[in-house]
Amino acid sequence: MRQLFLRFYLTVVVCFLASALIIGGLYKHMIERINQHYLTDIFQTTISIVEEELGDLPQSIWHSEISRLRGKLPVPVEIEQLDAYTLSPGNRTALADGDIILVEDEDIYLHRIPETNLMVVLGPVPYLNRLDNISWPDIVGLVLMCAALGIPTWLWMRPFWRDLLALIRQSRKMGNGDFAVRAVLSENSALSPLGSTFNRMAHDVEELTASRQQMIDAISHDLRTPLARMRYRLEALKAGAPAEAQTAGMERDLEAIDQLVEEWLTLRKLERSQFKLELQPMEMQPWLERQLGELAVGGVAIPLENATGLRAPLMEADSYYLSRVLSNTISNAKRYGGGRIEVSLGWHDGVATLNVDDNGPGIPESERERLLQPFERLEGSRNRSTGGYGLGLAIVAMVMRGHGGDIRIEDSPLGGARIALHWPTSLKDANRI
Ligand SMILES: Nc1ncnc2c1ncn2[C@@H]1O[C@H](COP(=O)(O)OP(=O)(O)OP(=O)(O)O)[C@@H](O)[C@H]1O
Ligand SMILES: [Mg+2]
Repeated sequence: MRQLFLRFYLTVVVCFLASALIIGGLYKHMIERINQHYLTDIFQTTISIVEEELGDLPQSIWHSEISRLRGKLPVPVEIEQLDAYTLSPGNRTALADGDIILVEDEDIYLHRIPETNLMVVLGPVPYLNRLDNISWPDIVGLVLMCAALGIPTWLWMRPFWRDLLALIRQSRKMGNGDFAVRAVLSENSALSPLGSTFNRMAHDVEELTASRQQMIDAISHDLRTPLARMRYRLEALKAGAPAEAQTAGMERDLEAIDQLVEEWLTLRKLERSQFKLELQPMEMQPWLERQLGELAVGGVAIPLENATGLRAPLMEADSYYLSRVLSNTISNAKRYGGGRIEVSLGWHDGVATLNVDDNGPGIPESERERLLQPFERLEGSRNRSTGGYGLGLAIVAMVMRGHGGDIRIEDSPLGGARIALHWPTSLKDANRI
């Protein structure tokens, strides 16, 4: 605290002194110029009066006349020989030429009485003392003001320091793994915005660790089922069960584990902030037909509707990840739908829309948001033989976010679920390029 206080206090004092000296200097300079102007006027008038008085009198009585005038004039006046003072060459010439000159060291004004070797000497004038000299009272005043600045600095620093210590304490606790800590600062505290940011961060970290933990629990749970099945099959093999059926089952279980790991790694890859999709112009119609042909293997053909208004629509997307999006949504439609699947492509106002519709039971509105999170499934899908790991839609959501777009779960005109994928892209006619 002491070090912080001293640094801050010294900065304040240095700034104060610098500004006091600059402003004081400018002010004094201005006053000095005005004073000089008035004094010159006064002295010029006084010199004219003196010289007029002496003009008609013989030189022999000038001294006694000056003594008489002295009491009546506002400044001391004297008659001296021209060489009575040591002057600079410039001043000497100016004096000889009849100018009024100021001898700064002596604080006097001199003027030669025309056609004589004598001059009128006015002064010394005490208030001609240079105004920019810093006097003792000035220094004492400055020191007192600098000392007084310490009080507001201290008053400001104390609560600041107290809040800073509180924040440091809470950060240390958070560093030790206690994510439930929160900084309680007064609303008036200068550190209140930092406190809110800290609390938000602690809240996010708490949620993140909780969701990570949930995910690890979910993965462990999902790995357990095929592992338990494999153990059972192994025991069956040992007990003499037909090897062919058991090994085929074990291969399926291994494949399921492999798929879970693969999906999980894909999701983690997409979550990384530095991960970037490779958006390229794609001829959508032939590409979608090819994909749907592959996905329909062994099943019913999946019709495609092109509602873009162009025969050969050209859009920008990452073909690899868009094909994963399509296979995830179509495999869901196959698994949970009612047997009919339709895909349609549209484009409106710079946004492409790819809809995957089915005629299954659909997805209740209250569940739609949740199902976009990893490992979330509808009740029933978990234990059904058709149920997956709950990663498919989370991957779709991530890919669409990477495209700058989103996924919306809606009601399908076919009666089941509609997975509507949107992303911003230009639309061109491939036949015209
Ligand atoms: N077309 C659909 N109709 C009805 N329910 C659906 C549909 N698509 C998804 N769901 C529900 O949403 C859940 C989450 O889907 P998601 O694709 O994320 O996971 P999954 O299919 O269970 O597993 P994975 O895709 O990882 O193999 C599914 O378990 C299912 O309950
Ligand atoms: Mg799925």
